[in-house]
Amino acid sequence: MEAKNEIITIIGSGIIGKSFAWIFALNGYTIHIFDVDQSQLQKCIDSIKQDLKDIGEKCTDTIRQDLNVIVNDMYIEKIIGRVFAFTDLAKAVNNAFLIQECVPENLELKRKVYKEVDGLMTVKQILSSSTSSLLPSILSKDLKHKKRFIVCHPVNPVDIVPIVEIVPAPWTDLDVIKTMKDLLSGMGKQPIVLIKEVPGFIVNRLQYAILNESYNLVNRGIVSVQDVDKVMSEGLSLRWAFLGPFQIASLNANGWNDYCDKYSKMIKEVSDTFDPPQLYEGKTSDSIFQQLQAIIPIGKLNQAREKLANQMRTLLKLKKQN
Ligand SMILES: NC(=O)c1ccc[n+]([C@@H]2O[C@H](COP(=O)([O-])OP(=O)(O)OC[C@H]3O[C@@H](n4cnc5c(N)ncnc54)[C@H](O)[C@@H]3O)[C@@H](O)[C@H]2O)c1
Repeated sequence: MEAKNEIITIIGSGIIGKSFAWIFALNGYTIHIFDVDQSQLQKCIDSIKQDLKDIGEKCTDTIRQDLNVIVNDMYIEKIIGRVFAFTDLAKAVNNAFLIQECVPENLELKRKVYKEVDGLMTVKQILSSSTSSLLPSILSKDLKHKKRFIVCHPVNPVDIVPIVEIVPAPWTDLDVIKTMKDLLSGMGKQPIVLIKEVPGFIVNRLQYAILNESYNLVNRGIVSVQDVDKVMSEGLSLRWAFLGPFQIASLNANGWNDYCDKYSKMIKEVSDTFDPPQLYEGKTSDSIFQQLQAIIPIGKLNQAREKLANQMRTLLKLKKQN
């Protein structure tokens, strides 16, 4: 994509900051990236180059074409030429329409960063948090520019997964929500806007509901780790890759009302037998670790991540064809 004359500032150049930096740069934006750890900034830029090279070398031709990416050294230099590292926060946020915060998930740290940015930003700029779970109202309540605050929560790997959660605080300006939605849609993402904030938003609430029950089933000695995972990968996820739980319920009967008539009582009875969530520690957690070691040993996690990323790209391509 051709360069746009618009700046996005990224604060924190770790996993998420780096990913946002390169997908925004890929979409033509100029990126100002800031980190308190100066050595991290160069690592981030090197890592963006590596990610782009990986797409060039490791993805199949069809996937590359689908991403509209012809990755050669010239292309990589063109994208990297849009990313500028800053060690001065004031300079980094200057003239950006969006400031995307990507520092570690720690309420006090994030609030400290916002306080600094609040003193530097104008009423036209947007301050957006990548937080996975913290409420925008709590994060922004003391800010002078709190109407310009929003959460934009991506899902890892950020360059592949289309869904992004947009979570406004009760006081967020409507134009901030619209700008974020349009920005993400314009990059081929599938943003959803929460009507009201809730801890963990939607992605992590659903993810944790499944993980908690999976843990509890193993804890009760009902099933192995491998078989719980198989139920998801060889069962539920096949349909969930195309339709969500409400539409699936509808298809599993003659529409939603029929589904409720037939199954609602049974679902309530089964759900009443769920154990409450637990801390993942002790004997069960150790046993899960051991069982996982036999499936994907710690030393092979990177290989497994790469394989999964390619599988996800292939699935997305298939979804687009259907
Ligand atoms: N990793 C994920 O899968 C994921 C997914 C979605 C959202 N998130 C959220 O994104 C945020 C960032 O997570 P991450 O995984 O990229 O973390 P990370 O630890 O990989 O990176 C954080 C970066 O922030 C920098 N930093 C720390 N304090 C700073 C400060 N005061 N000013 C500027 N930079 C500072 C660190 O040096 C580091 O480079 C978190 O809120 C996390 O919950 C993470």
